[in-house]
Formats: sequence, C-alpha cells, structure tokens
Amino acid sequence: MKPFFLFYLTFCFIGILNLNAQKNKSESIKNGIKLYRDFCYRCHGFNGEGQTDLIPPLKSSDYLLNNIDLSIAGLKYGLKGKIFVNGKLYDSYMAYQGLDNDEIADIMNYILNEWGNSSEEFVTPERVSKVEKSIIK
Ligand code: HEC
Repeated sequence: MKPFFLFYLTFCFIGILNLNAQKNKSESIKNGIKLYRDFCYRCHGFNGEGQTDLIPPLKSSDYLLNNIDLSIAGLKYGLKGKIFVNGKLYDSYMAYQGLDNDEIADIMNYILNEWGNSSEEFVTPERVSKVEKSIIK
C-alpha cells in the first residue's frame, strides 16, 4: 500500500510543477500589461488609440485581431511600409522592440484582450518562435 501512495504523491507533485512551467492566459495577460507600459504605450497610447495618421490603433484594430501571426511577426522582426488598419492607410515604420518570444506572447495576449478587444486565441512562446519573417510581404 505504502509504495503506491508514494508513487501517487510523486505524480501529483510532477503535475503541479508542470502547471507552473507555463503561464496560463490570465497570468500572461497580467505580465503583458507591464510590458505594454514599458515598450508600447509611448506610441500606441495608454488606451491603444494610436496617434492620428502616424501610429495605428490597437484598440479594435482589424489588422491585429484578424492577423495574429502577422502582428507577432511585426513585433519579432519590425514592421515597415504600407498597412491598412480599419480601412486607413499607414506607411510608416515600427522597429523591433528587443523583446523575446515569451514577452511577445504576453504582450499579444494583453493587446488581444484589452480596450474591448477580445480573442479566443492564447498566444504561447512556442507559437511566437514558429512565426517566420517571410510572412511579412
Ligand atoms: C516608436 C513607436 C512605436 C512603438 C514603441 C511601438 N509601435 Fe507598434 N507600430 C508603430 C507604427 C508606426 C506602426 C505601423 C507600421 C507601418 O506603417 O508599417 C505599428 C504597427 C503595429 C501593429 C500592427 C498594426 C495595428 O495597429 O494593429 C501592432 C499590432 C503593433 N504595432 C503593436 C505594438 C506593440 C505590442 C508594441 C510594444 C511592444 C509596439 N507596437 C511598439 C509604432 C510603434
């Protein structure tokens, strides 16, 4: 009986460790808030509203909400040239912000679910690592 119990306990413990290994969505979003304030808000604004004609909004952005991998690529490699956001043309440049895959995942989960944005998707660092530069035209 005793060895079985120890065996069971060991499995429970490993289970708990595994759960902690990866952030869940709400933990990721929480971390994303801090990162957004450090790296994005000076351009995209506290409320994701952007800046007229120069910097596109993230709030209700069809570009962001409909092109998750493209948005990831912009954060991973930088984004340059013509893009349409909610029917409006932007032809500008966003430099790579120096974030790693884990940080990009957290920021994506935050901006996809803030200011009335909402997404079923959960962006993981693994997904970020798979996005290649070639998807940006
Ligand atoms: C120096 C200003 C600047 C900073 C800082 C910046 N961006 Fe941008 N961002 C831009 C500009 C300009 C564009 C449009 C680029 C173009 O016209 O090709 C853009 C485009 C985007 C887009 C795609 C278009 C849209 O509005 O949906 C996303 C998503 C985005 N940025 C997210 C972020 C996030 C997240 C951060 C923080 C990690 C960030 N940006 C930091 C200036 C900035």
